[in-house]
Amino acid sequence: MPGICIVGAQWGDEGKGKVVDLVAERADAIVRFQGGNNAGHTIIRDGEVFKFHLIPSGILYPGKRCIIGNGVVIDPGVLTDELDALKARKIDTSGLRISANAHVIMPYHLLLDTAGETKLGKLQIGTTRRGIGPAYADKAARLGIRMQDLLDEKILKKKITAAIDPKRLSLRPYVKDPSLDLQSMTEAYLTYGHRLERHIADTARIVWDALDADKLVIYEGAQGALLDIDHGTYPFVTSSNPIAGAACVGAGVGPKDVNEVWGIAKAYVTRVGSGPFPTELHDAVGEEIRARGGEFGTTTGRARRTGWLDIPALRYASRINGLTSLAITKLDVLSGFEKIKVCTAYSGPDDAAFTDFPYHQSVLHHAKGEYIELDGWTEDIGDCRTAADLPQAARDYLDYIAEAVGVPVVLVGVGPGREQVIWMQDSLPLAEAA
Ligand code: IMP
Repeated sequence: MPGICIVGAQWGDEGKGKVVDLVAERADAIVRFQGGNNAGHTIIRDGEVFKFHLIPSGILYPGKRCIIGNGVVIDPGVLTDELDALKARKIDTSGLRISANAHVIMPYHLLLDTAGETKLGKLQIGTTRRGIGPAYADKAARLGIRMQDLLDEKILKKKITAAIDPKRLSLRPYVKDPSLDLQSMTEAYLTYGHRLERHIADTARIVWDALDADKLVIYEGAQGALLDIDHGTYPFVTSSNPIAGAACVGAGVGPKDVNEVWGIAKAYVTRVGSGPFPTELHDAVGEEIRARGGEFGTTTGRARRTGWLDIPALRYASRINGLTSLAITKLDVLSGFEKIKVCTAYSGPDDAAFTDFPYHQSVLHHAKGEYIELDGWTEDIGDCRTAADLPQAARDYLDYIAEAVGVPVVLVGVGPGREQVIWMQDSLPLAEAA
């Protein structure tokens, strides 16, 4: 049975939650492997809207193992709130397992995130201010607190003491009273530990057992390839690796346990936060895409920047992830545009023209999209359930994407509802396994 990794192929918000939710129906374990509550996954089930920031999308299926892997950074306050909200809606959360090695977002990480942005001023990254970057920084500096530390008062106190001093110093110019009381922080985090203890486990072991038993495992990515700290538009990136390679590190498996990699891309592009975006639209078309697509952040409510589909960027995302399949979401948002533009290359200063996603930030910052125009369609496609139901122009658009990126399109989203999808191929290992 395959291990399938589902990742964002753009700048996040591609609709991964919905795809994971669909595939999770046939999976035994779903593992989040990086990021934290900077992510926001929306799932609409029978008209009910569920928003998750930390809990894997598979939680809506009773009996599945839903795992928050070691590569995730966890704000335990957010996690307990999510658990409470699910319980209030009578969703069984007993299948949730949290890696004992996952790092914890502490109150000072939130303060540092905001202070860092304030310090950068106009150059700010536009983070979600959820403390993600500072938590990963502490992990790398070996000053992090892990979930297992929340179960032992002595260890927790020792570790917070070691971590807190440099924070007080760096926060002083930005926070009125950065006293960060050790005692109350320790007590609060021990309470979280007590509350979450039944879910804390050796999650890599659980994943191995599932794989050994030939069960289907989904590795659920957050954010997207172009926000990757190594391969994205640095420094305007998140502080983890949202690409498929990180599934191994963040879940605790080897590369041979990732058999398929599905890249999720919108039929157009959005981005939140600062940083280069070669196909960004600053006109009425961009506004229209934002309005029709409801392009406002799940986590922060910020208006997303919008633009036409960027093929060189998608090809790049395909290479760094090793994509085996593409899922194109929100195709319905493009219905009604007479012409649909697709970026096939970039131009830069001094008549430069190139088709590869630029590796150098100065080139990328000045890159402008070069476009071809494809015919649009006017029909409402929300009720289409097979490729044959789609207007010819929509099929042509999908064929064009698959051909240009060199990866087959397996799934297409035609509306926000769970059932509003088209499976383009029926020879998937998943279908065979069902
Ligand atoms: P951070 O991850 O909060 O540090 O934010 C760094 C950058 O990643 C900012 O541009 C954020 O807007 C962006 N970002 C983080 N998480 C998401 C996400 O889930 N979707 C889209 N953008 C995100």
